[in-house]
Amino acid sequence: MADLDDIKDGKDWGEDRPVDTSRFFLKGGANHDWGMKARLAKIFRPETGRTVMLAFDHGYFQGPTTGLERMDLSIAPLAPHADVLMCTRGALRTVIPPETGKPVVLRCSAGNSILTELSNELVSVEIEDAVRLGAAGMAAQVYIGAEYEHKSISNVVKLIDAGTRYGIPTMAVTGVGADMVRDARYFGLATRIAAEIGAQLVKSYFVDEGFEKIVLGCPVPIVIAGGKKLPERDALEMAYRAIDQGAAGVDMGRNVFQSENSIGMLKALEAVVHGGATGQEAYELFRDTGQNVAA
Ligand code: 5RP
Repeated sequence: MADLDDIKDGKDWGEDRPVDTSRFFLKGGANHDWGMKARLAKIFRPETGRTVMLAFDHGYFQGPTTGLERMDLSIAPLAPHADVLMCTRGALRTVIPPETGKPVVLRCSAGNSILTELSNELVSVEIEDAVRLGAAGMAAQVYIGAEYEHKSISNVVKLIDAGTRYGIPTMAVTGVGADMVRDARYFGLATRIAAEIGAQLVKSYFVDEGFEKIVLGCPVPIVIAGGKKLPERDALEMAYRAIDQGAAGVDMGRNVFQSENSIGMLKALEAVVHGGATGQEAYELFRDTGQNVAA
């Protein structure tokens, strides 16, 4: 029944409390739609504006990469310790229990292998399947300066357009071919192009010189890949330097799942990314956790 008695003066209109117009916690995100923001808030912790993503999508072009031979054994137990999972739909459907409840950034490009030209990719997932899987985000490579640069940009543009229709953010991954230069100038170019074509977040590699300028020149959040396996101390120091210079998190694979203590690495990365730990402090935490201690 209509509540006619409620139409009266004296309600709390909060005249003394202006509406919050700060709009959004993430760089470049203030003008996104509600669904897009909600998904980005699953990928990045709103308290810190950062994320620890676990990447295990390598098999889509590398096959059974070391550490990913049996993802049900090596990766599924790590899921609770990461903020986000980044993987293919094949890995998701076959080894990750839906009850895990972690947001997923879905690898949505494929079409090559380590035996052929890496930049020759296509969009490998229809938007309907990303929606069906409940993806928090989609990801594909831009190969700037590579043979199939144009095609790879076109792939990411298609995902961005489809994702924008459904409120799903797209992460452009700055792919590097086997013999491409990896310096600040290159990643500055690649990350900026990715953001300008509309990617809501960008994945880059860390570079020793000039990483802060890559971040400053990119109007959306950047997360870093780990690259080849390093000694844990070095990987954590790299993560610390990236965060210190403005990265919004990490999307690491081999430096986590190829470690003898993957859970310890995820905990140490969390300390750096969300807890303000230095590389050294995080390494001490890593050492103290022992081998794959789940607690
Ligand atoms: C490959 C990717 C990987 O997800 C990325 O390289 C992260 O893994 P790693 O930390 O092992 O480099 O995007 O194209």
